[in-house]
Amino acid sequence: DWNSGNVIAEQVERIRAQVGDARVISAMSGGVDSAVSTALVHKAIGDQLTAVFVDHGLLRKGEREQVERDYVASTGVRLITVDAADTFLGHLAGVTDPETKRKIIGREFIRAFEQVQRDLVEEAKASGEKVKFLVQGTLYPDVVESGGGAGTANIKSHHNVGGLPDDLDFDLIEPLRTLFKDEVRAIGRELGIPEAIVGRQPFPGPGLGIRIIGEVTRERLDILRDADAIAREELSAAGLDQTIWQCPVVLLADVRSVGVQGDGRTYGHPIVLRPVSSEDAMTADWTRVPYDVLAKISNRITNEVREVNRVMLDVTSKPPATIEWE
Ligand code: XMP
Repeated sequence: DWNSGNVIAEQVERIRAQVGDARVISAMSGGVDSAVSTALVHKAIGDQLTAVFVDHGLLRKGEREQVERDYVASTGVRLITVDAADTFLGHLAGVTDPETKRKIIGREFIRAFEQVQRDLVEEAKASGEKVKFLVQGTLYPDVVESGGGAGTANIKSHHNVGGLPDDLDFDLIEPLRTLFKDEVRAIGRELGIPEAIVGRQPFPGPGLGIRIIGEVTRERLDILRDADAIAREELSAAGLDQTIWQCPVVLLADVRSVGVQGDGRTYGHPIVLRPVSSEDAMTADWTRVPYDVLAKISNRITNEVREVNRVMLDVTSKPPATIEWE
């Protein structure tokens, strides 16, 4: 019967046999799949592995620290962070169309990753080594889905760290290929990866970039990051992490409405909460979050995030609405 310890031992042996003394790179997103596959490969071959984390400036509050500090501390993975926020925001300037945003973010991610990859290949060459393998956090459902199902991938051009082009000159290591999400989580826990990463709810590859309706700017990202952190904190504190599949927080950046604070008039932005319940993200219902929890989130956001003076609740199921607004 299934046991995460056995799977780890089996995979470690298999990875060692596959890799030999070659060097390996891995793209880390901060998500569960890449975190677990990377840790598993590290357990097998140690510092023959280099993990690459692209900070595109569209991450949530604390996410980079979680990877650079907590993940590295618990796994010992050798990690390179690419500071690409300026580049990404430069390319996103003036862009409001959702698909264009997605394409730019996907393209720039690949560029940033390939830059590091070239450096690593050069570095290895200098010491007579070869970078031959790339780690992918592909799960069993991904394998089945890429058989051509009619998923949301057809409606939105999905970008994630699995979305690297196949013409990269590497063999793939896919240690999670036969596993389901809950099995991957169990393995992650067994490997000592922090619960905040292993138990994480889904978060899209394009990050907060597709949760700002309108142009993505640094200032707008800061507003959304603060509001998002508050919503997450309160939903967790209310014990709703298991009930809720995920709760996008969306900034209606081009909309303003009048409010009042103290004696003054405000003219701020609305924020939308989109809590959804789902089994697989193909369909979803809006989660009936208790009113007192919603009230607390609303009060805190409007008190603590100066630019936001109104909080809305999205009460649409999927279909007809998708989970993300863009
Ligand atoms: P939608 O908005 O299509 O989202 O109902 C379904 C699920 O997919 C996530 N999502 C993404 N995940 N890259 C990802 O890795 C993406 O580009 C992307 N777009 C949406 C979304 O958060 C939800 O869980």
